[in-house]
Amino acid sequence: MNPRTLAQQLVDTDVLEDVSSNVAIAGPGFINVSLDNDFLSSSLGSEPLVAPTNKPLRIVVDYSSPNVAKQMHVGHLRSTVIGDSISRMLTLAGHTVVRQNHIGDWGTAFGKIVAYIDDLKSDQEINSGLEDLEQLYIAASQRFDRDSSFASKAREAVLKLQSHDPRTMDIWQKFIDVSLRHLEDIYGKLDILLTPADIKGESSFNDDLPAVIERLETNGLLVESDGAQCVFINGFVRKDGSRLPMIVQKSDGGYLYHTTDLATLLYRTRELEADQVLYFTDARQILHFQMLFAVAKKAKFAEEATELEHHAFGSILNANGEPLKTRSGENPRLSDLIEQAEIHARNVVEEKSQHLDVEQRSEIAHHVAIGAIKYADLSKNRTSDYKFDLNTMMSLEGNTSPYLQYAHARISAIFARGGINGEEIELDRIRVKHPAEHDLAVRLLRFQEVLEQSITERKAHHMCNYLYDLTVHFTRFYEKCPVLNTESKERDSRLGLCARTAENLRVGLGCLGISVPKRM
Ligand code: ARG
Repeated sequence: MNPRTLAQQLVDTDVLEDVSSNVAIAGPGFINVSLDNDFLSSSLGSEPLVAPTNKPLRIVVDYSSPNVAKQMHVGHLRSTVIGDSISRMLTLAGHTVVRQNHIGDWGTAFGKIVAYIDDLKSDQEINSGLEDLEQLYIAASQRFDRDSSFASKAREAVLKLQSHDPRTMDIWQKFIDVSLRHLEDIYGKLDILLTPADIKGESSFNDDLPAVIERLETNGLLVESDGAQCVFINGFVRKDGSRLPMIVQKSDGGYLYHTTDLATLLYRTRELEADQVLYFTDARQILHFQMLFAVAKKAKFAEEATELEHHAFGSILNANGEPLKTRSGENPRLSDLIEQAEIHARNVVEEKSQHLDVEQRSEIAHHVAIGAIKYADLSKNRTSDYKFDLNTMMSLEGNTSPYLQYAHARISAIFARGGINGEEIELDRIRVKHPAEHDLAVRLLRFQEVLEQSITERKAHHMCNYLYDLTVHFTRFYEKCPVLNTESKERDSRLGLCARTAENLRVGLGCLGISVPKRM
């Protein structure tokens, strides 16, 4: 059918009757709809910010998942921040989210560490040695490289770990406890939802690995190649055209990352009853997950209906566009980055908020620093790289977290000035009239749509762009439309628009794991 004719037929129906009295057909068959102010007003007065999904799912979200042999470094930031935000949005939409922190707490690195700690003589030495996890791992690795008797001790320790030798397990546990305390500390600072109960690391699947091999065998998928147990899947080939194996057991009997992930997946589908499993890691693991999912479906580690998704992301770069490194060429520690951000934020707040006392300022600086770190990450398309630049991310202008937090604080200040309790403002008093009110109202009603888009694509930048656009339009509205100094009906209506904007900002930033200080 001719698109213009179809458009005309649509316009001739009454579907838009209460929505728009200004519908026009344009170009080859577009329909332009100008929403009526009455429609906007009544929608704002009656519709909740978020309508829960009519298809709630159980969704396992695997994120953060650092390898705990070392301190958490900047490479773990993105998985932690992105995974946390997506799981907050899924929960808000009404899904049941099961967070899983699949920490790397098993394998050869831990053999080195356990052997090294075992060599420290006294308990006191052990305790002080454990304080600096990074140093411990570096020292153990260096010793492993130059001291062959230590190296064989370390390899022995791996076997002892696998067979749960009590003394070896005891040392390992001490190390893990210190590492987890360090993790908790970072999650606390960053306001991340993960708790100790969400940790189910590689070590917890150690005993399930032989069954993985058996299952592959039963399904006729296991092939021996150069002494190793492998699975070959159609479509996975090397550059030279030869078939790429997924190795699940080495010739010495040791298991691999793939093997553990297969065992983990079985647990997630069987015990956690996942409808969907989402993984957030950097782009280097794309092939790992492609192979994992293919084998998992073939050998029924997951049912055909279970959706398995790997969501990769780019790297964090320095201001020159190179990978972020410390002066000595190491990956910067996450705790150091957070500290730098806090110092920077304190300077900004000190300058801008001299009317507040020291305690309030340092509280605000904390919210600003954490918000800025998270927002800088989440506001970029997940798959691209981005530059970690404290100046840009803490700017009070532009698409930044402080800009949005500041807008929210400004609305609180309007309420305070009018002696109004923001929570008691009634949204059914909103009467949209002025064009700036119209533009703001249209945006206020888009929240649900943006939430759904962010969830469907597993990309938080849609929410960020939305909140920025909303704030720009709120600022325009506030410039053009006096709120407190106008006649009472209009004042009530505009206070309603302010209250709803504050709510959208608070809930929207909440989706990103960013809190809003009352004052700034
Ligand atoms: N520990 C891994 C790393 O630091 C990430 C684990 C991701 N989750 C998984 N189930 N493989 O690279």
